[in-house]
Formats: sequence, structure tokens, C-alpha cells
Amino acid sequence: MRRLGLLVLTLGLLLAIALGGLAQEKVKIGVLGKCVHPYWDVVRIGVEAAAELFPDVEATFWVPQIEDIPAQISTVEAWLAAGYDALSLAPSDPKAMEAVIKKALGLGIPVITHDTDAPGSGRYFYLGTGNYAFGRAAGEAMLELLGGPEAAKGKKVIIITGSLTALNSLERMQGFRDVVEPAGVEVVEVLNDREDVSTAVSLVEAALSAYPDLAGIYGVYAASTTGLARALETAGKTEEIIGVGVDTIKEHLQFLQKGALDTVVGQRQYYMGYHSVTLMRIAVKYGIETVLAALATAGALQPQGLDKETILGYLSPVFPDEVVETIGMLLDTGIVVRVGGAPDGAMFLDTGSDVVTRENLEEMFKTWEEMGLPMELFR
Ligand code: BGC
Repeated sequence: MRRLGLLVLTLGLLLAIALGGLAQEKVKIGVLGKCVHPYWDVVRIGVEAAAELFPDVEATFWVPQIEDIPAQISTVEAWLAAGYDALSLAPSDPKAMEAVIKKALGLGIPVITHDTDAPGSGRYFYLGTGNYAFGRAAGEAMLELLGGPEAAKGKKVIIITGSLTALNSLERMQGFRDVVEPAGVEVVEVLNDREDVSTAVSLVEAALSAYPDLAGIYGVYAASTTGLARALETAGKTEEIIGVGVDTIKEHLQFLQKGALDTVVGQRQYYMGYHSVTLMRIAVKYGIETVLAALATAGALQPQGLDKETILGYLSPVFPDEVVETIGMLLDTGIVVRVGGAPDGAMFLDTGSDVVTRENLEEMFKTWEEMGLPMELFR
């Protein structure tokens, strides 16, 4: 009898330990960015804000110092070895990243991309900006600032980017060229700063002396934009040369007010971080197929102009509550689900963008505030 009692006690203890272990088991999500820059700080803040909402999540955010493809790959390898449950990646080189993406998928780990896509890699969907249209918007701003298609003819501009492999950079440059080149604007050079602001400054400084008749500069990335605005300011050429750049971080908005930048095409990168966590969490808990089906349903209903409550009404009878709630959070942040919207037919979750000028800046502050974005990101 005493023996039996001891056995029951031991079994009970073992069970308690096992259940305790289960209760502590967190969903481990790795979010990989591309460089150290305030742009990526905003993504990280989004990651942290979402992770704070869910005690069952442990999220890690990591970026290399500047563009560093091998470091990105080895970080993902390390996450796989450490037993991460889901990944959201911004590959600086989608081809180079493909093998490790496939490895993760083979281990049953859901992978998505954010900020820049890797079509054909097998990742489940892309969460971020529509970069071709984003590049076109920059091109249209440049054309207008050059005085319109007639006046712009024959004017010289340079492009400065931080990557010649990342898809978002290639798409933005193409979008920009497709607008300015038919109007006769000449792109005299493409500079690559590899996401290093000080390199961007020196490259732009050198270009300013190489092309005394330069009319404009397009900064494709946030780091390039910071560099070009600093260089124009130091050279005292903010009046003479048009600066079109990207990303509505504080310093860029100040440059806009001071005239070193004339238009900033902004992304909503906070949501890239935030929803990497909300969506990967439910992918791990309920299966990626469930998440894809819920997103596809929402994406089919959105173009019909239905409001959030109606869309969630369709989802509730079919999907687990937490999945429905997460889709609700996604809709609350203005994201448009474009089913089949990625180049390989995968889903594209469009975080949206803003064209910001000195004239509409105050209005934009109001918009961001109404969206519930943390205002300390902007001023
Ligand atoms: C791009 C990122 C890039 C960042 C910093 C952003 O505009 O979307 O891919 O890493 O700028 O340069």
C-alpha cells in the first residue's frame, strides 16, 4: 500500500513537472531585418509591442550592422538550431536565402517575408510595401519637382540604394525609372552604399563634384536617404538639388521641414514587425494552413467594401477565436490582403505607404495619430 502511494505520488509529480513545462513553452518567433538604422528600430518596436500583448510569445529581432548576407543566413541557421517555431525574414539576397528558407520549411517551421520578398522560395506570404508602385510614386514626385515632364527632359539624376540584390531595391529602382526615363530624365549613375549611412554620405559627396549639373537624387532606402540629405545639407545644395527619399523617420521629417528632402515616400514598417508576431503566433498555434485560409477569406471579402465586423462575422463560425481576433487586428491597421498579389502568386499583405511633403506633413501627423501609431516614432 505504501509502495502504491509512493508510485502515485511520483507519477503525480512527474505529471506536474511535464504540465508545468508545457505551460511555460512559448512560441519562439525570429524576425530578421537588414541593417542598423532608425527605420529598423521602428520595425523592432512593432515586434516588441505585439510580443507584449501575448505572454505566450517570445520574439527575437535581429539586424546586421550594414547589408550582410552571410550574417543573415547564419542567424537564421542559429535560430533553427535553437528550436525557433516561426520566422519572418527580410532577405538582402532572396536567392542566397532560399536554401535556408527551404530547410526551415522542411522542418515544418512556417516562414514569411516582410519588407522585401523572396518569391519562389516557398515562404508562405509577404508582408510589407508594394515596392514597384512605391518606386513609381518616388518617380512621380521627382518628375513633378523637376517641373513636370516637359521641363524634366534631359535633366540628370542619380539613384542611391543600399542593395543590388534585395528585391525591394530592384523593384523600387525599376518603378522609378519607368516613370522618369520616358520623360527624358537621365539616370547618370546608380550608387550602392550597402546600407551604411556614412558610405552614402561620401558617395553623394563624390557625385556632387562629378556631376556639377546634377538636378536630383533619389534615395531608394532609408539609409541612403539619410546619407543623401546629410550630404546635401553639408554641401549647401539643398536648394539647388532635388532630394526624393523614403521612410518617415524623425530625422527625415526634419530634413523635409528644412528643405534637404523635398518628398519622402513613407512605409508603415511598424506593422511589418507587429504583424510578423501576431500572424506567426497563430500560425504556430493553429497551423499555417488555417492562417492562410483565414487570410484568403478576409482578402476575398475586403474588395467588396465590407466593414471589419461583417468580415469577422464570416470568419467566426469557421475559425478559432484567436485566429479571428488576429485577423481583426490586421484589419484595424489598414492592411489590405491581396490574394495572389506576390510575383509567384502567393499572398501579399500590403501595409500601405504615404507620400509626404512639407505641405501635407501636419495632415500626415494627424493620420498616423488616428491610426494609433506611437507618435514618438515621428516627432
Ligand atoms: C527598406 C529596407 C532597408 C531600410 C534601411 C528601407 O526603405 O525598406 O529594406 O533595409 O530602408 O536602409
